Amino acid sequence: MSQEALSSDSSLASESAPLLTDFLGALRSSFFSFLAKPIDELIANEGRDYTRAAERHLERLKTAFPGKPLPNAAVEAYTRFNQEILREELEFKKTGRYAMDEATLAEVCEKVYDNAEVMEAYYLEGLYLTYYFWPHHYELVQYYTAQFVDQFPGGETLTEWGVGHGFLSLLFLEKWKDMKVSAYDISRHSIAYSEQMFTSAGISNATFHLADILEQPCPKTDALICGELLEHVPDPNLLLQRAAAALAPEGRMFMTAAINAAQEDHVTLFRSDTEVLDLMREEGFEVESSLTITHPNRVEEEAPPQVVACVLKHAHPENIH
Ligand SMILES: C[S@@+](CC[C@H](N)C(=O)[O-])C[C@H]1O[C@@H](n2cnc3c(N)ncnc32)[C@H](O)[C@@H]1O
Repeated sequence: MSQEALSSDSSLASESAPLLTDFLGALRSSFFSFLAKPIDELIANEGRDYTRAAERHLERLKTAFPGKPLPNAAVEAYTRFNQEILREELEFKKTGRYAMDEATLAEVCEKVYDNAEVMEAYYLEGLYLTYYFWPHHYELVQYYTAQFVDQFPGGETLTEWGVGHGFLSLLFLEKWKDMKVSAYDISRHSIAYSEQMFTSAGISNATFHLADILEQPCPKTDALICGELLEHVPDPNLLLQRAAAALAPEGRMFMTAAINAAQEDHVTLFRSDTEVLDLMREEGFEVESSLTITHPNRVEEEAPPQVVACVLKHAHPENIH
């Protein structure tokens, strides 16, 4: 066993994080053992706060899906998710374009969102797990908590578009418990998964809507979460216009967008964070704060995959009715 793994094992043992320990053990024994290294580094560098939060993240899964055997089902989903991304990224490096950039929504739905072999086998759980197992996603969670959840000025309604696994709303609701929640997604698999996560977390004041958010009218909301959706739609301006219409005058929106990051359902290629932030300003938002994150192993690349996360508000709330 490497020195790194030894030291992380001992800090895990003293922290008593049985689910994380088991997950890491199963990951190390898999063909994809290299995926354990960034997690070992997070444990070594971030210490107890990280270990506790990652354990809690796995506990949410265990509670919501007691029938799924942890750690094996989670390791299977996580490794498969990473594998699919590596495959798409290799192709993107060769072609310079996303494989689905000309696909219709119906084609993406057939291949991904309506496909149980994708959504239920690895997509939702794999993506959920990246939030604590990819260092740059862990950084995103910290930014989200500090800049969006903790700074939220207060309100009655929370809406999430493209709710997926539901993690971002769940984290928000840990602090803002009594808000009324509306969650939208085009995939019945995402709706079923996030509904299960909400129910097991004891959240009862949520409604779920199976809908294409570009087509569905959405009532005004005080907080709007829109994580990893902008690059999934063919017309990001339209999504931002709809978001501007849905956000209450003093509301806040959290949004992320992937840059140079291929995935099987990414249809809009953003080349830089400036391009994304300019688009938001063009559609009437003020960028209250933003963070651009690059995978630590890929900073040396010419156009590395990145994610930009930001907190937005109306630039001119006085004009919103
Ligand atoms: C990458 S996941 C993001 C999940 C979660 N929000 C996050 O930040 O990790 C994208 C989600 O958006 C949903 N989605 C894609 N296009 C959509 C659309 N036009 N309307 C509503 N949901 C959509 C997908 O079904 C999927 O659940």
